[in-house]
Amino acid sequence: MVRMKYKLARQVLSDQVVKTITRNLRAKKEKILRATTKQMKELAAVSRIIEKEGIPKYLVCKKLSGKLGFGLFLHPCAKPLVKGQVIASYSGEIVIAPQNVEDDCAYAFESLSDMKLTKEEQVIYNKKGKYHPGRLYALYIDAVKKGNFTRFINHSDKPNIEPEILTIPKNPYGLTPTPLEVVYIVKRTINPGEQLVVSYDGDDGSYWGVMNIKPFPMTSKTFRLDPSLNLIRS
Ligand SMILES: C[S@@+](CC[C@H](N)C(=O)[O-])C[C@H]1O[C@@H](n2cnc3c(N)ncnc32)[C@H](O)[C@@H]1O
Repeated sequence: MVRMKYKLARQVLSDQVVKTITRNLRAKKEKILRATTKQMKELAAVSRIIEKEGIPKYLVCKKLSGKLGFGLFLHPCAKPLVKGQVIASYSGEIVIAPQNVEDDCAYAFESLSDMKLTKEEQVIYNKKGKYHPGRLYALYIDAVKKGNFTRFINHSDKPNIEPEILTIPKNPYGLTPTPLEVVYIVKRTINPGEQLVVSYDGDDGSYWGVMNIKPFPMTSKTFRLDPSLNLIRS
């Protein structure tokens, strides 16, 4: 088990970033789903826990074997997590950068693509680049230095968690409204002791190609925790 030093419950967007995102969503006529009342209540509750304790008591962050690093598990004594339940926001530093420029950031989530920037915005976000009106940019949430426990969720082709891109409207639950937020949601029942896993490959399947490694083929049951929190490999 690890002591959780990552306590950023949600991404923090500057007014400038909100302006850039909002203009691009309008231009693309892209409708982002509004978070439901249930989702907002659950997100607010888990966000409070993250800020205080880093990780809820029903989850365990545990070292796996070899290069897999850590993984996140449902505590063997916890109740199952059910479809639709909010796990938390995927949080980190916000970066707007030219799209498809290969990098090896293992913790970056691309939450909006095909963005166009004004000349002034390109100066802000891409200081070294020469202005080009047609250049496409993407919005990344980079959890390498800052983030929360969701950064420890490993990849599987058979995920039990899925990222939903939601807009958070004004609400009475203490959540700062945002035009776009990545929220990890339970896709199918997760039983006690099982690992939480998500598929890193979005529509373009680019994650592992850029990393230039073949992912280890695991499911939520490949590694499990026993009641003493020992790791068992099936
Ligand atoms: C977002 S991090 C997940 C947490 C990571 N295990 C850790 O300890 O920080 C993503 C990195 O975890 C490793 N990883 C996650 N799932 C994997 C898998 N199925 N096969 C191989 N490596 C995996 C890779 O190094 C990947 O770049």
